Amino acid sequence: MSDNRAIGVFDSGLGGLTVVKELKKVLPGESVVYFGDTGRVPYGNKSREIIRRYAQQDERLLLSHGVKLIIAACGTVSSVAKDTEKELPVPFVEVVSHASAAAVKATKNGKIGVIGTVATIKSNAHKNYILGRMPDAEVYQNSCPLFVPLVEEGITSENDMMALEAAKRYLTPIIEKGVDTLILGCTHYPVLSDVLKKVCGDGVKLINMGEATAAYVKQYLTENDMLSNGDAAADRYLVSDKSESFSEMARALLGSEDIEAETVDIEKI
Ligand code: DGL
Repeated sequence: MSDNRAIGVFDSGLGGLTVVKELKKVLPGESVVYFGDTGRVPYGNKSREIIRRYAQQDERLLLSHGVKLIIAACGTVSSVAKDTEKELPVPFVEVVSHASAAAVKATKNGKIGVIGTVATIKSNAHKNYILGRMPDAEVYQNSCPLFVPLVEEGITSENDMMALEAAKRYLTPIIEKGVDTLILGCTHYPVLSDVLKKVCGDGVKLINMGEATAAYVKQYLTENDMLSNGDAAADRYLVSDKSESFSEMARALLGSEDIEAETVDIEKI
């Protein structure tokens, strides 16, 4: 049995593309319908009610495209609006638990850092997951509200002073605690990997939520006979506000010239 329907992936903007990148590595035969809510980004500084409403609309949009599974490729939605999965007729995958499990596995000294949006850090979603599996762990968290705008503006080079200064300010209190593992708790952050590595040094393992989640999705589709037979339709990239930078950054990030984002009216969904 095979299932050629696309995998639906959504985020507030570009960040979820870091999850698509990892998905493509382990599931090259699957097609993806991606929605980036570029008209309403960022989500991470909004209230729980608003984030839930946005997540429900994003999920409905993807369902209207006949997807077989939905990935909330957004740490914020995964942390504060995971319960929206109850209303879905297809499986729902969040990014927090898989990344937190990978961090528990990776740490040697039991000291784990978590960075994310304000809403994600306030929810303690990663921390609670980690402590549930590793009660002795020490978890140090910090929100990094400037990181999402930096990524959306393409300010991500390790030589960019603005990005480096922001990273130093957010990460120093965590590094000083001696963490050996750092969860990038927002899917935008892997785009800043070079900057983060420079600030953290070699002694800290960075956990990319997309990597852990893609491995889980592969396992899930395999176990449930839901893999495509390689004949799936072309990928689609939808956004709520047309921005040339989205298409450009998506092409660069995913290494594909074919990406042309289509605009949808998310408020009408
Ligand atoms: N990429 C998102 C996350 O993982 C959303 C960031 C935002 O919109 O604030 O949290």
